[in-house]
Amino acid sequence: MGNPEQGNETFITEFILLGFGTLHELQILLFLLFLVIYIATMAGNILIMALVAADQHLHTPMYVFLGNLSCLETCYTSTILPNILLTSLLTGDRTISVTRCFIQYDFFGSLAAIECLLLSVMSYNRYLAIVKPLHYEARLSDRSCLQLIGISWAGGFLNNSIPVLSISQLTFCGPNGIDDFLCDFIPLVKLSCNDPQLMEILAFILSLIISLVPFLLTMMSYICIIATILRILSTMGRQKAFSTCSSHLLVVSIYYGTLLIAYMFPTDNTMRDFKKVLSVVYTVLTPLVNPLIYTLRNKEIKGALRKVFRKFMLGQW
Ligand SMILES: *[C@@H]1O[C@H](CO)[C@@H](O)[C@H](O)[C@H]1NC(C)=O
Repeated sequence: MGNPEQGNETFITEFILLGFGTLHELQILLFLLFLVIYIATMAGNILIMALVAADQHLHTPMYVFLGNLSCLETCYTSTILPNILLTSLLTGDRTISVTRCFIQYDFFGSLAAIECLLLSVMSYNRYLAIVKPLHYEARLSDRSCLQLIGISWAGGFLNNSIPVLSISQLTFCGPNGIDDFLCDFIPLVKLSCNDPQLMEILAFILSLIISLVPFLLTMMSYICIIATILRILSTMGRQKAFSTCSSHLLVVSIYYGTLLIAYMFPTDNTMRDFKKVLSVVYTVLTPLVNPLIYTLRNKEIKGALRKVFRKFMLGQW
């Protein structure tokens, strides 16, 4: 990497993740807080995956998608939290090699894109179930579920490969402090000594496509769903229809809400700390909140959980 013609400049081999900055007094507290969040997130999402795999009643498209979302969340937190816990909070060593930084961005960026795609697939599933119930079986066969999930995973990784490839072509000649707690695209581009403008435009267009298109599809599904629900005459029927999509609607709102605020906010200095808090919320807290919402608000998941618990108590295992 780097061009020897550029003279005496030394090229950077590692970055420093400035993270939460100089909150030394809070180090232990933050460490415990993030540790609890990490353990709870992993436990919640693995529990959902296990329930979906074990319970025959949950072998429907909706729960297969939910299982995949939980699988995604487990990977997603694991690309971010262990690094924060080990490097910056426990050992105080905040350096990260350039290669590891790129790898982290690769996984983090791809998984975020896959999440957008999976959330829109899940709302398409709700759309079919409520707006087009007669076509549900035909349109969501096992094969098309597999295709939708495959497209989401492949699409997320492919979409992110362009920024990853272009970022790996950049040269970094200092300074090397990243004012964030993870390696993200814009902070990395800002640190390079190449002209970042073209890259910023490219990244903007790609992230717009990968987040805006699924966002619009999700919105459209929910507009149709709500219009259909409002046309149902009985209050009971209305409540029943709404209860099957309220968890998902809540998850979608939290995810896009924090994502939009975090990325749309101006990057000037006064708002920087607030932005950091927001990016903690959407990177660290959403994966924790999803299993909570689904286990607490969803009758089928609660039922499956109760069954497992009863078996366990009766010693049938
Ligand atoms: C994810 O989707 C695939 C394809 O439909 C399915 O076979 C698999 O069980 C799902 N994963 C989980 C963890 O539910």
